[in-house]
Amino acid sequence: MRYRPLGPRSREIIERIERNSADNYMPYPFVVSRAKGPYLFDPDGNKALDFLSAYSAILTHMHPDVAKAVIYEMEHGSDLVSRALYSERFADFVELLAKITGYERVLPKSDGGSVTDSAIAGLLMHGNKRGISHPEVILTKDYFHGRNWIFASNALFDYEQSHLKRPSAQGIVVVDNTAEAIEAAINKNSVGMFIETHKGEGGPLFSTKEEYMAMRGLARDKGLFFGADEIQTGLGRCGHIMAWQEYGEKARPDFVTLGKALGGGIIPVSALVGSEEFMRIFTPGSDGSTFGGYPIACAAACASLKYIQRENIPQKALELGNYFASLMRGIPNVNIDHRGLLMRVEIEGIRSAKDICLEMLLGEHQPRVFMKHGHYNPEKNVAYTRIAPPPGAMTKVLIREAVEKTIRPVLENMRNRIT
Ligand SMILES: Cc1ncc(COP(=O)(O)O)c(C=O)c1O
Repeated sequence: MRYRPLGPRSREIIERIERNSADNYMPYPFVVSRAKGPYLFDPDGNKALDFLSAYSAILTHMHPDVAKAVIYEMEHGSDLVSRALYSERFADFVELLAKITGYERVLPKSDGGSVTDSAIAGLLMHGNKRGISHPEVILTKDYFHGRNWIFASNALFDYEQSHLKRPSAQGIVVVDNTAEAIEAAINKNSVGMFIETHKGEGGPLFSTKEEYMAMRGLARDKGLFFGADEIQTGLGRCGHIMAWQEYGEKARPDFVTLGKALGGGIIPVSALVGSEEFMRIFTPGSDGSTFGGYPIACAAACASLKYIQRENIPQKALELGNYFASLMRGIPNVNIDHRGLLMRVEIEGIRSAKDICLEMLLGEHQPRVFMKHGHYNPEKNVAYTRIAPPPGAMTKVLIREAVEKTIRPVLENMRNRIT
């Protein structure tokens, strides 16, 4: 390993994990023993700016309001209340989330994968109710909706899990990212389409208003349900509560999946929100989970949503994202695209930005910066890196320091060495 852990405590912890953990991730060799605001701290006295935010799940590390709400519920409320009964925290949560998103109904889950699964199950059940024996849902290429089998087995992209090939789960049709390709795939079995407003894992790859509205319009014209996965893009990161709002109210999907930042980065909380017409598909017993909507999760989510509103996180992400992108422009062979504080760095002529990211985290530059390398795009011969700092904890000073002292010098030096 060219990049080593930064100290003995980190090394020992990594060795213990490597002895006993399944090998389904390839983490960078940095151990987090504490997190606060924009920072990750290791047990050997090092700290790094967190520019991945647990794949966009963190708005600020350890927000005291979320932590307090969770502790309060634990000390004064209840532990697990299943949906076999009612709780006041659940009432608070569904009311607040419906109000903030403008949807009529909320279905609670815990992680992202389980709620995207509910979305697909809902669409397929809708097909069955209409008498379609083999209903089909249309997804677009390079999607990432979690690692459930129905999604993983149909993934077309060349990714770490590309060995998950056939047999594909039925009911999914994957087409190119265009309204024309979707139109060509629509047939009598089609029940709906499910897209990411912007594709987080694929780049990120950002939609344009024209592309998005063409897909949205097509669903409306053909009488299909249209859903957006905003698990990564929602809750302020891209400058809006939901990223589709950039395109106006006519862009509103019939349903949206949310997760990640919903639990404030402290408790896993996800939700499917939707119109009355879509959510009517769900009847007692058709979906559910033991922990979905339990009081501690609802307390965390309410505190997180109030924080997003109070601090106007969408506006902050917009302003700081523009500032960040402006500082990144002009680096040779590097192109930037972004929505708010979800940013794609495109590095020309290399197959992977992994060493660049490792150098920023574990090399000689201060402040240390943690960002994660993304895919290689062979058509463009570029490697992607994603920058997604925690919007609630960012300041212009921190961004300027990170770009000038670490990101720009590393990108310039490493790029020269590689070519
Ligand atoms: C758009 C999108 N959908 C779904 C998921 C799955 O969420 P989870 O990892 O919480 O299952 C992710 C996770 O990265 C995501 O980015």
